[in-house]
Amino acid sequence: MTEGSLILAPLRGVTIRCFRETFAAEIAAAGFTEAVTPFITANAGVDPLKDREIGNWLIGELANGRMSGGREGLVSAAGETHRGTGLGDAAGETHRGTVLGGAAGETHRGTVLVTPQFIGKDPGALRYCLKRIKSVGYTTADLNCGCPFPMVRNKGRGSGILRTPNVLRQMMEVGCEVMGPGNFSIKARLGVDRTDELLKLMPLINEFPLRHLTIHARTAKQMYEGACDWTAGEKVVAAARVPVVLNGDLEVVLGSAAFGCVASLGCSPETGGGTGRMIGRSFVRALGARPDSRELLLRYIAASQRELSGDRPVLGRMKELLSYWKEIPYWSRRWNLLKICRSVDELRAAI
Ligand SMILES: Cc1cc2nc3c(=O)[nH]c(=O)nc-3n(C[C@H](O)[C@H](O)[C@H](O)COP(=O)(O)O)c2cc1C
Repeated sequence: MTEGSLILAPLRGVTIRCFRETFAAEIAAAGFTEAVTPFITANAGVDPLKDREIGNWLIGELANGRMSGGREGLVSAAGETHRGTGLGDAAGETHRGTVLGGAAGETHRGTVLVTPQFIGKDPGALRYCLKRIKSVGYTTADLNCGCPFPMVRNKGRGSGILRTPNVLRQMMEVGCEVMGPGNFSIKARLGVDRTDELLKLMPLINEFPLRHLTIHARTAKQMYEGACDWTAGEKVVAAARVPVVLNGDLEVVLGSAAFGCVASLGCSPETGGGTGRMIGRSFVRALGARPDSRELLLRYIAASQRELSGDRPVLGRMKELLSYWKEIPYWSRRWNLLKICRSVDELRAAI
């Protein structure tokens, strides 16, 4: 992780590949250097290249210009790979070296690295998934240790993995081995129902050459509600010998690395060392508050129509996004109408 990096949070159903690629320029202009995909299941027999989330491993300014911008750049719908053409110009020439520069994960200004996130508890399945994504150009990967849903965590996945240190160890071993030192990260809650569970795991986590540890400063029991506990978060930061990325209710400060708002929550860049920040919901809301938000939505509708078949899934996707915008005056006036639209044409007419 490069110091001061700002990472777009994975929001399943929201910051999906179509969202990231449609708004790549806006994401890059906001100062994000990286985006983590919503989780992909790492289960035996599942090929991650068939997952919709897998597309370009770099998006942004260059991706919208010289580079091919869509999934087809790297992986066809059938999951067939075209390594080398993903970042290429029409002639298929690759620009990987020039774009990524030196170490894996370093991007040039205006480009956003995409890091696939996996969820699971099977080290063998994770190994397979990581090898597959590496084979199409991804250089970084993340493990979900934070999903709070009881169905997931009770099976020892997501935040549940915090309760099985041996499994967590094996997953980190595989991650760091396959992706290489400094290229594998984990994203965790403070604990399942206590705020000191992650802290107790820090001696184990510190054994690994992780790219970083992202801390969502809530317990799993809190789901997405209630205040983040930055006092507990700072204890983890103090115990960490790996870079730390802070996450949870941070307001997006467009064009900056959002350090100011984090300092006001009590986590200063000093205490965090070379820490980064991850922001999700406030960025999604900020898009809806832009004067061109209507055009953004029209663009997203068009891109989603190209990807999906029929009105239903497109409407579902748009309503999910609009639910983040419904407090914004322009959108709140339309929300009651928008949420009952039954066709894309109706939706377009109502926005
Ligand atoms: C709808 C939704 C979906 C989410 N999906 C994921 C996910 O796939 N992987 C993950 O690690 N976190 C996921 N999260 C958690 C976010 O990445 C993030 O940790 C949380 O929203 C706090 O950050 P924020 O306040 O900046 O949004 C999700 C959160 C929400 C609200």
